[in-house]
Amino acid sequence: MKNNKFGFALIGYGGMGGWHTRMLMDLSDIIEIRGIYDIDPARNKKAVADGFNVYPTLEDLLNDDSIDLVTVAIPNDDHKDVCIKAMNAKKHVICEKPVALSSEELQQMIDAANKNGVKFSVHQNRRRDEDFLSAQKIVRDNTLGKVFNIESRVHGSRGVPGDWRNQKKHGGGMVLDWGVHLLDQLLLITDEKVVSVYATLSHVTNDEVDDGFKTIITFADGMTAHIEVGTSNFISYPRWYILGENGSAQIDWEVKGKIVMVSDWENRDAVPVVTAAGLTKTMAPRTDDTIKEYPLPVIKADCKDYYRNFVKAIKGEEEMLVTHAQVMRVMKLMEAILKSGETGEVVKEII
Ligand SMILES: NC(=O)c1ccc[n+]([C@@H]2O[C@H](COP(=O)([O-])OP(=O)(O)OC[C@H]3O[C@@H](n4cnc5c(N)ncnc54)[C@H](O)[C@@H]3O)[C@@H](O)[C@H]2O)c1
Repeated sequence: MKNNKFGFALIGYGGMGGWHTRMLMDLSDIIEIRGIYDIDPARNKKAVADGFNVYPTLEDLLNDDSIDLVTVAIPNDDHKDVCIKAMNAKKHVICEKPVALSSEELQQMIDAANKNGVKFSVHQNRRRDEDFLSAQKIVRDNTLGKVFNIESRVHGSRGVPGDWRNQKKHGGGMVLDWGVHLLDQLLLITDEKVVSVYATLSHVTNDEVDDGFKTIITFADGMTAHIEVGTSNFISYPRWYILGENGSAQIDWEVKGKIVMVSDWENRDAVPVVTAAGLTKTMAPRTDDTIKEYPLPVIKADCKDYYRNFVKAIKGEEEMLVTHAQVMRVMKLMEAILKSGETGEVVKEII
């Protein structure tokens, strides 16, 4: 550490690499960006044009003693090797998500961190999405009474982006790309053990990797979660849909939505919904005098807290917020989803 600042280097100056450097510019009081390495000379040229020092090789970066901390933001299949190299060079490492392609790879990375006595974490930035924080608070505070189902979805309509993300060898596919965020969030909403997973994978635009998936996850207390990623959805469902015994919540991006609570459960009479083919009271909407609408809780977040925490964890001042155990649990859940999607079977033994 020089001048009381952590020396930082970035590996991979693509879309997400650029995001990391922009974020770190606001943290210049604790972290100094000392250089970048990208395997593509054109990206290194861009880094120079953007005013950064560039290392000619990965080895040059890893041999620089002024670098304490490295962020790895490269395609998923190279995460393991590059992170382990960096940890063997005694650098603290932040890896982009998904951390690896399998739990075996992840274990090798954790072993490298332990062997070298360095901190190793994964950039699970969507823990600071405010829609998630709102959903988490609603469930954890029992706002809706006992929650029995959580639905969390992201829907796009552009297929899988056409670079490395659509190729299996690079760790493409939507389970690994977006599933990792939604599952990480889900496991922070409940502490219950996962008892079973059933999933289907979609291949609407891409045969090689999944371009979306749906999964039903059952927890030990009976709560279910429906997690879904779609890339051929020209009409999007709400981001979150949560059902409790006394109410429901709908949350969209930017914390738009509502909570609706039952105010008079016993008053169940309804004006029937009548269609040409029949009528129903069971499925008719409740009358306004028996329900009450509430605004969603809004919890503000700062994504730079991720780096602030990592630096404090290196100094021994705080526990790392994204732990090895958490990322391993998410990895095993993704493996179960892929296995269920490929076999059509329910997977039961999950941590
Ligand atoms: N946390 C998030 O919100 C988020 C968002 C987007 C991407 N990501 C993750 O970030 C990583 C990178 O994604 P991206 O969208 O930036 O991809 P990208 O294709 O835009 O950029 C990847 C960069 O890595 C470089 N590269 C490839 N192999 C390399 C190697 N071995 N050494 C050095 N450089 C190498 C490429 O030349 C490219 O410039 C992926 O793991 C992705 O899942 C995370």
